[in-house]
Amino acid sequence: MTVDRNLGDDTGRRLPESGGTDALAAVDPDAADASTDRLTAGEGDGDGLAAGDRSPVLRAAGVHKSFGALEVLKGVDLTMRPHDVVCLIGSSGSGKSTLLRCCNLLERIEGGTIELFGHDLADERVDEDLVRRHTGMVFQSFNLFPHLRVLDNVTLAPRRVLGLQRKDAEDRARGLLQRIGLGDKAQEYPDRLSRGQQQRVAIVRSLAMQPRLLLLDEVTSALDPELVAEVLDLVGELARQGMTMLIATHEMGFAREVADTVCFLEGGVIVESGPPERIFGDPTEPATRRFLQRIFDAGRL
Ligand SMILES: Nc1ncnc2c1ncn2[C@@H]1O[C@H](COP(=O)(O)OP(=O)(O)OP(=O)(O)O)[C@@H](O)[C@H]1O
Ligand SMILES: [Mg+2]
Repeated sequence: MTVDRNLGDDTGRRLPESGGTDALAAVDPDAADASTDRLTAGEGDGDGLAAGDRSPVLRAAGVHKSFGALEVLKGVDLTMRPHDVVCLIGSSGSGKSTLLRCCNLLERIEGGTIELFGHDLADERVDEDLVRRHTGMVFQSFNLFPHLRVLDNVTLAPRRVLGLQRKDAEDRARGLLQRIGLGDKAQEYPDRLSRGQQQRVAIVRSLAMQPRLLLLDEVTSALDPELVAEVLDLVGELARQGMTMLIATHEMGFAREVADTVCFLEGGVIVESGPPERIFGDPTEPATRRFLQRIFDAGRL
């Protein structure tokens, strides 16, 4: 019996069946253990997606979001398919974090649609907990539980939410920590780790839930420059392993290196999007050019 069916039995709430790809409602906790040598569950690896399935993971169309009188998102369109890495760039206040938060129901949208794995998030039958479980989100301020050791931080949700036995959850966590070179920190409390190490633990904590989509919001902006690289290296490795990721970032060099698609946001719309070579090398929109010129003048590109 899958964990999702348990949830359905207990609460009566499930993601509605729609379309053929019910990835949000099909997870095999046993399949997870096989993937601790990788950081992600890739294609055909028990991630609920049929091998070669290119159905959209995320489809946002005409998304509008306001906070009171302030209209923050003014018609955003974005489609992501399995293994896509999309970087959102743009000035502070352009709506990057808001878009990410709308994608895992931390914010509700007022117009347009967001579909995750074919499920319309506006559908009241969609289970918010399931959405969050399958869309791991990592914030700028890692949000590790300070009173829990690293190992317990990583195993808490798999045990509580996925129902994994302690040993299975710990085996998975140790495997992941080993993979990022923090195997010897499992018994430490977060404040004994550097901030870069804490952020890597926060990413691993998300990965332990085997999300289908990882949402990363400025995961390096609270870090000293010398710690940025170790976190970006980890995200780069995830990208190479096929993790589907939507990343808000001010690190242009990183976006250029890791993204399949770069989206430039300004004033709540995606002004321009495309492969990084084109966006950074030959942007067509004046607003993109102005933004990149400012970045260049500041020596950040
Ligand atoms: N909960 C909220 N209530 C009111 N206004 C908000 C809220 N969250 C965001 N905003 C406003 O929405 C706008 C977009 O914010 P958002 O955080 O999405 O920008 P951003 O592109 O992520 O910026 P940054 O690069 O600084 O992280 C800003 O004007 C912000 O003040
Ligand atoms: Mg932000």
